[in-house]
Amino acid sequence: MIIKNICCIGAGYVGGPTMAVIAQKCPEIDVTVVDINKERIDAWNDEDVENIPIYEPGLSAVVKEARGRNLFFSTDVDAAIDKADMIFISVNTPTKTYGIGKGMAADLKFIELCARQIARVAKNDKIVVEKSTLPVRTAEALKNILDNTGNGVNYQILSNPEFLAEGTAVDDLMNPDRVLIGGDIDTEEGKQAVEALVDIYAHWVSRERLLTTNVWSSELSKLTANAFLAQRVSSINAMSELCEKTGADVNEVAKAVGMDSRIGPKFLKSSVGFGGSCFQKDILNLVYISKSFGLNEVADYWEQVILMNDHQKRRFAAKIVQTLFNTVSGKKIALLGWAFKKDTNDTRESAAIYVADYLLNEQAEVMVYDPKVKTEQIYADLDYLNTRSSEENRARVKVVNTPYEATKDSHAVAVLTEWDEFIALDWKKIYEEMLKPAFLFDGRRLLERKTKEEIGFEFYAIGS
Ligand code: UDX
Ligand code: ADP
Repeated sequence: MIIKNICCIGAGYVGGPTMAVIAQKCPEIDVTVVDINKERIDAWNDEDVENIPIYEPGLSAVVKEARGRNLFFSTDVDAAIDKADMIFISVNTPTKTYGIGKGMAADLKFIELCARQIARVAKNDKIVVEKSTLPVRTAEALKNILDNTGNGVNYQILSNPEFLAEGTAVDDLMNPDRVLIGGDIDTEEGKQAVEALVDIYAHWVSRERLLTTNVWSSELSKLTANAFLAQRVSSINAMSELCEKTGADVNEVAKAVGMDSRIGPKFLKSSVGFGGSCFQKDILNLVYISKSFGLNEVADYWEQVILMNDHQKRRFAAKIVQTLFNTVSGKKIALLGWAFKKDTNDTRESAAIYVADYLLNEQAEVMVYDPKVKTEQIYADLDYLNTRSSEENRARVKVVNTPYEATKDSHAVAVLTEWDEFIALDWKKIYEEMLKPAFLFDGRRLLERKTKEEIGFEFYAIGS
């Protein structure tokens, strides 16, 4: 089976970079990325490739090379489905905000809409690939819709979970630890579909890194990988609180622990809390599915990773209030960083949102600077929490274009994202322009304590 045309539904953080790399590496395959969001598609097609809607180091160069050659962005979903041999579904699957499973189960309505659209449009056999992170057994639901509402054509459903991390997406795609492809490997047709996708990745990934499994293992592996990674962060964050009480330093502990080759050094960086579109959502999916099978101990075990993370965000915000003589009412607090990690403009589940919300509840005036996040996104994130009116968020939070505007005349500065540029700021100038005592809270263990204390800051860093 030779794939000539690929369609990807969803031009977001996953679909966009993944398809750009596939198109770059497979010049003989036409790749069309479609989305119902016209603004987003227009941005992907912007003449100036630096204006593409997703900030990822190295991505604009890949898009520049492939766009217009064999990489296309369009809002004509039907046409792209019709033409494709293989369709990737890469739409968002947010946590449900209503009904059964509210706050826990994934909302699959966007996936279902895609399936129904594919079924309506497709006139020849298709391979449908789940790319979005999904709860286990979504493929079954997809197959059910496609087979029962379609035009009698055959579908093969594959699970090909994305392991890219934002900020390093292009590198993760170019040099993946492994690519996981789940399919109906007990049948000849299923095996052929899996092979077709293997052939695409084999353009640039060595065969021993291409793992094929059954669909359910593939779906569950993605949730498990993210749960394990998030668990490491929550584990080290739990230790950070103990370090602060005992005089230990969490960085020293992490280094000592990480040098044990059985444990390894990665994902042991204590922080104000993990964010991103995957960790919390995937663990919630795991908790939900475990509960639905009556596995309450399993569910409780994983839920604790999220409870610890919530605690860490709250604890950091409370530390600011406590240190500022138990009140931040009317005080200006500068937040440096809003993205959930450096090198991305994505803010989903970012710890900064929750820290800001906490401080606003304590009647602080909040100043925000982030090098890549747009002002409207910051307000949208706060509005989404529904804690106060949109007008009040706009009145009490000011988003500025330079770090120095944020920190001037503030009582405290809090570093919430580990952007490299924050290390090299003119901290002396910042100190001089702040109210005294000048408090500096490092939620990322980014800054050097000694030099900041020498300048005169009252310095607090998580985990020491
Ligand atoms: C994650 C997975 O890494 C990726 O494989 C999957 O496909 C999607 O989910 P992502 O959410 O983009 O990727 O970023 P990641 O680098 O995993 O970071 C997640 C959060 O954990 C960030 O907020 C980050 O700041 C935080 N983190 C990470 C820590 O606080 N400490 C660490 O040591 C590592
Ligand atoms: P992810 O991080 O998973 O890529 P995003 O929210 O960045 O998530 O991207 C998902 C994209 O999918 C959004 O741009 C959204 O407009 C798009 N989308 C959702 N439903 C559909 C649909 N039925 N048809 C086309 N695009 C869709």
